[in-house]
Amino acid sequence: MPSLSEETGGRIDHLEPGAVIGIVGGGQLGRMMALSARYHGFRIGVLDPTPDCPVDQVADFQIVADYDDQDAIRQLAERSDVLTYEFENVDADALDKVRDQVAIPQGTDLLRTTQDRVHEKTFINKHGAATARWRQVDGMDDLEKALDELGYPAVLKTRTGGYDGHGQVVLRSQEDLDQVVERTRRDEADGQGFPPSILEGFVDFACEASILVTGNGDRYVAFPLVRNDHRHNILHMTLAPAGVGHEVEEEARQLALRLAEGFELAGTLAIELFLMQDGSLVVNELAPRPHNSGHYTIEACSMDQFDAHIRGIAGWPLDQPRLLSPAVMVNVLGQHVKPVLKELTAHPEWNLHDYGKAEVRTNRKMGHLTVLTDDPQATARDLEATGCWDDLR
Ligand SMILES: Nc1ncnc2c1ncn2[C@@H]1O[C@H](COP(=O)(O)OP(=O)(O)O)[C@@H](O)[C@H]1O
Ligand SMILES: [Mg+2]
Repeated sequence: MPSLSEETGGRIDHLEPGAVIGIVGGGQLGRMMALSARYHGFRIGVLDPTPDCPVDQVADFQIVADYDDQDAIRQLAERSDVLTYEFENVDADALDKVRDQVAIPQGTDLLRTTQDRVHEKTFINKHGAATARWRQVDGMDDLEKALDELGYPAVLKTRTGGYDGHGQVVLRSQEDLDQVVERTRRDEADGQGFPPSILEGFVDFACEASILVTGNGDRYVAFPLVRNDHRHNILHMTLAPAGVGHEVEEEARQLALRLAEGFELAGTLAIELFLMQDGSLVVNELAPRPHNSGHYTIEACSMDQFDAHIRGIAGWPLDQPRLLSPAVMVNVLGQHVKPVLKELTAHPEWNLHDYGKAEVRTNRKMGHLTVLTDDPQATARDLEATGCWDDLR
């Protein structure tokens, strides 16, 4: 049986095999967490509104209900020893209400900070890391003032709920601002207020990168810095390692460890970064969970991001993950499923992961594939040359 420590506020000291891990959210991140939990000997429950969701296919039980359904969260808590989540837009208050029933090693402060861009940037800046210049924006007056201060181009984002570029708009000129004014008028006519927002100065980055860090509340370990290529605001490809030189990699590692300590992190946290021409790093955003850009770790690292997450929330010791081979990860979106399945037979080097989603939709993440390689740049070109991802050009 797991032991709960009084002094650590209900944090798990050390979870033993056979214990139940409850996951809020039934998508691919939860599924890969569950697969990892499975071979560590844990049992898995999931809360998700879609029957036969990706996690359910590999779990012991599913509670079919909305993520913020308090009754359902209580049921999951009652049947679990530890709760975790696969996405950051979980209702933190709802989780707090079950903390007397179940351990939540990640806590809810981490959630509250990372689900609001203003709190998130305040935290990052407080821990000595750079972000884009930013202003809180609660209405049109704020927006005009912030634009005066930051100048064009700038990015207007909702404070909460954004993903894959949803809820954001790039303002390059007065015409773009006029469109926001127009939209705000329409929203107001429909009885909707201006959504709490943030304006960020546009970062003229050399490339995008990310780094994962995992903690068990006590020790923190960082993964290699990787390079990310986005298309239409959705991650397309990750190259590991980033290949940007030892100094930058070390700086990213130190930054990741600092943030992890600041959160007293348990589980895996992803840090999305902009790499500037001069080698400096600017933090874009945080994700309090395993991340799409960390899928390469399954084949390429001594401990992958999902194992690390499970070990971290179970209070198990964490070894420094090692990159065993450079790798390239590419996403398989709905429109790529057919061409990828057709090409698959010609590519023994493709490690395909399918998420088991019933409905194929354009731009929906259906799976990914990872290739181990000595030359990530050349492998990235080879993947593009298959034509499977031509729609993203
Ligand atoms: N301030 C910025 N300057 C330049 N590009 C940005 C900025 N903010 C976001 N982007 C681009 O938009 C993408 C999505 O933005 P992000 O803040 O990560 O939102 P999401 O939560 O949708 O992932 C980023 O990966 C980056 O390519
Ligand atoms: Mg992002």
